[in-house]
Amino acid sequence: MDRTMAMEKKPETAIEEQVLETIKPSGEEKKRLSIIVDELLEKADVAAGKMGIEKTKTMLVGSAARGTWISGTHDLDIFISFPEETSREELESSGLLIARELAKDAEAFEERYAEHPYLNMRYRGFDVDVVPCFAVGSASNIKSAVDRTPFHNRFVKEKINSLQDDVLILKQFMKGTGVYGSELRTRGFSGYLTELLVIHYGSFREVIAHACEWKPGIVIDLLGHGSVKHEEPLVVVDPTDPRRNVAAALSIDKFALFIEVCRSYVDKPSVEFFFPKAQNPLTDEEILNILQERKSSFIAIVFETPNVVEDVLYPQLDKMEASVRALLEQHEFTVINTGTWAGEDSVVLLELLSSTLPIVKKHPGPPVWVRSHAQGFKSKYEGSDETFSLYIENGNYVADIKRKFPTAKELLEEKLATCSMGKQLTETVKEGYQILENEQLCNIEDKNFRTFLRKWKKK
Ligand code: UTP
Ligand code: MN
Repeated sequence: MDRTMAMEKKPETAIEEQVLETIKPSGEEKKRLSIIVDELLEKADVAAGKMGIEKTKTMLVGSAARGTWISGTHDLDIFISFPEETSREELESSGLLIARELAKDAEAFEERYAEHPYLNMRYRGFDVDVVPCFAVGSASNIKSAVDRTPFHNRFVKEKINSLQDDVLILKQFMKGTGVYGSELRTRGFSGYLTELLVIHYGSFREVIAHACEWKPGIVIDLLGHGSVKHEEPLVVVDPTDPRRNVAAALSIDKFALFIEVCRSYVDKPSVEFFFPKAQNPLTDEEILNILQERKSSFIAIVFETPNVVEDVLYPQLDKMEASVRALLEQHEFTVINTGTWAGEDSVVLLELLSSTLPIVKKHPGPPVWVRSHAQGFKSKYEGSDETFSLYIENGNYVADIKRKFPTAKELLEEKLATCSMGKQLTETVKEGYQILENEQLCNIEDKNFRTFLRKWKKK
């Protein structure tokens, strides 16, 4: 490359080219994928024919169908579409019959239930979902949530033209920065959303540039459908179903994080946004240092992770995190922040200004002139051994009394079971849990937990 060219080229161009080289499927990989897809589609049609199931159509959907899959990810979404008038029972039973035929040649398979049953299998190294759906006339008349997918497919395939590379780069950027994935664990950007952003703004670079200026309430409406009111921070009107927000799953914090990383990338582009360096787990010494420096109180509630899918587990952990925080705040503990982590064990973490409070607690009473209440309050607290003092403040009685839960640990041991945390977590916590404080955090040896801790508490 000559000098002038090197000078004209923006630094991010070289970075993005380098990233693309790693993530773009090679011709060989594409060929292997298409052979397997053809084989599966053919087998499905033959199976349907043999069973006398007429008028089904099998098709490949998702990123593999749109040329927007990242090299090495071997996920195939095969849909079997049934005529709209098919009954739900028939769709389920015939759909599964065809799927089971395919699974005869699979390395492993499992029937799963989302809104309706589908089959997941490992087939010649690929992770394949076989999903029955209704061939509805339009995406706004769906009979089941998956019926939109073929419409997404058609829309993206029509519009994506030469933008596949930009989608790949944006997906990898989002993966590397931790905002990719619309499942409840991540609450970030789905593959389809990524594709729509690239189609709307025209390139990876333009998505990044615009996102630097995003504010909650932004609406992207590719076909000018005019949008229904939505509460979410980002609204991307589904071109195939105007009432639907494609970004409905995106949390406010992942929205904000994306804005932040886009700004950092524009300031100082680097390949690390796409492929972050692996972080080391915190050592005991580092944990103790953090405690020393911050002089706050850490509490970890630890229990065995229940055997449920992630879309069930993570919302329950979020619920538990919020209700434990509320419990502590109701009892006058000041919470700095909270976090959750799940591996073999699950952990709800809290950092408090202090995990101990004074024995005295200020207990407000009624105005003195509300005679009956005032006298009741006075006689109750005046005579009690638990009262330190009784006085009037701004016309109201106040009793300084003995606090029932002077430590966060005592409070949790007494009240954790009353916190709302969803069905499976309630059952698990009933079986047993541990409360660790400060340096006892070192008792949790799991490396992934220790890495999570680094991300949670280090700059
Ligand atoms: P996938 O989750 O496999 O996404 O869903 P993807 O687009 O193929 O992207 P990657 O590369 O695997 O990450 C397959 C299709 O199901 C629909 C979309 O049309 C998507 O392309 N879908 C999926 C939704 O409509 N909403 C979702 O939350 C997930
Ligand atoms: Mn996919």
